[in-house]
Amino acid sequence: MQSLAPRRLASACRRSTTLPPTRRWHSSSPQSAPTQTPEPGPSRTTHFGYRTVPEESKESLVRGVFDSVASNYDLMNDAMSMGVHRLWKDEFVGLLRPGSKGPVRCIDVAGGTGDIALRMLDHAREKYADRETSVDVVDINAEMLRAGYVRFKKTMYHDTSQIAFHEANAQDLGQERFLSNSYDLYTIAFGIRNVTNIREALAEAYRVLKPGGTFACLEFNKVTNPILAQLYDQYSFSVIPMLGSILAGDRDSYQYLVESIRRFPSQWDFAKMIADAGFATGEHHSGNGGAWRDLWGGIACIHTGVKV
Ligand SMILES: C[S@@+](CC[C@H](N)C(=O)[O-])C[C@H]1O[C@@H](n2cnc3c(N)ncnc32)[C@H](O)[C@@H]1O
Repeated sequence: MQSLAPRRLASACRRSTTLPPTRRWHSSSPQSAPTQTPEPGPSRTTHFGYRTVPEESKESLVRGVFDSVASNYDLMNDAMSMGVHRLWKDEFVGLLRPGSKGPVRCIDVAGGTGDIALRMLDHAREKYADRETSVDVVDINAEMLRAGYVRFKKTMYHDTSQIAFHEANAQDLGQERFLSNSYDLYTIAFGIRNVTNIREALAEAYRVLKPGGTFACLEFNKVTNPILAQLYDQYSFSVIPMLGSILAGDRDSYQYLVESIRRFPSQWDFAKMIADAGFATGEHHSGNGGAWRDLWGGIACIHTGVKV
């Protein structure tokens, strides 16, 4: 795979956006903020997979996981899901139909290697001859963005106003770079369970969306059928870490990915969090008129909400 030095990537990414250049390439992550002396006081905790960790540690632990998996991420996604993640992502984008009502401005948060962004741009172009829909891919991890940037270099979208990559935290995108009420569509796929404070990420989603804009999340969720749940557990806890070890030499990161799925709120609880953030959702059930749509018995799930 072609690799780019960070500085070259930084300036190339900067060119591909209409936003003003920043000190680091599009970085508003807390790591690039001036160091502050932490306030003394008891540390709050959160989960990192099955471990309980201080809240302030989770971000760097998650960053470590994705630094480690970035170069193999697309290959491993295919291997672990036997290609099924592609079907889920196709369904996700097919449900959102970018371009169907004219060009849309999208932000794909925790966008990683750009899988959703590429599908959205292809969908808009192939189905609606739309070459104006645009996607800002945002991720906290520079290595994942780098892989996405290199991938997009081989596409017709490279160096156009349709795609830009930004390093930023879903919990605090930055008010100057990501203006309030500026996007038609906010997507986050297999990302929100890694965020330390999900409510803060939802509040940011609400802030950057225009009134009437759509929030859409694709995430692993709870399997309701007990037989399927048992089979899925066996597969997840034995096969996935083993594949991580064999194919990527990294068992621990894939063990975390499996554990983080189990720690994510249920469909119902997550729908409630979306509603609490101010979004209009459907009723709290799966399917037509519902706040979410289960895929493959709830192994994955699409939640949507509209900013009112
Ligand atoms: C499993 S990958 C999903 C990537 C992509 N959306 C996809 O579906 O293939 C999760 C991504 O979330 C990113 N991430 C984790 N915490 C984040 C945060 N607080 N803000 C932004 N991105 C974050 C990781 O760096 C990683 O790229």
